[in-house]
Amino acid sequence: MLTITTAHQMHSAVAGFRKAGRTIGFVPTMGALHDGHLSLVRAARAQCDIVAVSIFVNPTQFGPTEDLAKYPRPFERDHALLEAEGVELLFAPSVEEMYPARATTFVNVEGPSERLDGKSRPGHFRGVTTVVAKLFNIVTPDRAYFGQKDAAQVAVIRKMVRDLLFPVEIIVGPIVREADGLAMSSRNVYLSPEQRKQALVLRRALDAVEEAFCSGQVDPTVLHERAHQTFAAEPAAVVDYIELVDTDTLEPITGRIKLPTLCAVAAKIGNTRLIDNTVLHPRK
Ligand code: PAF
Repeated sequence: MLTITTAHQMHSAVAGFRKAGRTIGFVPTMGALHDGHLSLVRAARAQCDIVAVSIFVNPTQFGPTEDLAKYPRPFERDHALLEAEGVELLFAPSVEEMYPARATTFVNVEGPSERLDGKSRPGHFRGVTTVVAKLFNIVTPDRAYFGQKDAAQVAVIRKMVRDLLFPVEIIVGPIVREADGLAMSSRNVYLSPEQRKQALVLRRALDAVEEAFCSGQVDPTVLHERAHQTFAAEPAAVVDYIELVDTDTLEPITGRIKLPTLCAVAAKIGNTRLIDNTVLHPRK
């Protein structure tokens, strides 16, 4: 595996593969890799000739009081995991490489960027789309892989790709869960053993919504209430949002659920903010 730290070197490496007619699959990450990331790497491996992964903890997507400084950075471990997956290119740039001094250009997807996580983390999605646009320009992938756990991020990136005509196919991998149902996240390492159990309330809230929906409940207000009641039974959880929204626009669903609907939840357990979601598919 070739580890590359500059955009210039990455352009040359990719140009070589392109000249040889190879397709490039790209998995952007912030490192601290878990099985969710590795499932995306494996999907890229199965569908593309060359797999490129980036590890970059992107400062512009963190708010001033968020966990940028303490975000886990186990680079050696991540490097070994990617090597074991047969990844060809690892892009691990510095902050200075990705944000040259006096850079004042940002990418903002108006609309969905202000919803869900974008509402509670102002500027978060502007940071995500800015860095992903830069990474797409550097790696020029044929396909890029993202996890469904970050469903709002997926909606925002899909719209950016459509709006800015990026010639890249976005592939979304399913949520990968621990044996007890907790969605895998690099932030799970912050949880104490007790908080780890309390965190299961996110999955329970989604289960309650799914159960009601499968029994025929299609009123979003009632479904929202089911999730709310489940969270209320776990006092350690501070709910940020429970939302039933259109999977593309992230606009709230009003009236009865007719189209695939994203039910997304976010909550803090101690200082750790966790997210999870499910998609409700109405029967025809
Ligand atoms: O999902 C992530 O890990 C990040 O938001 C991403 C897409 C790598 C951009 O920094």
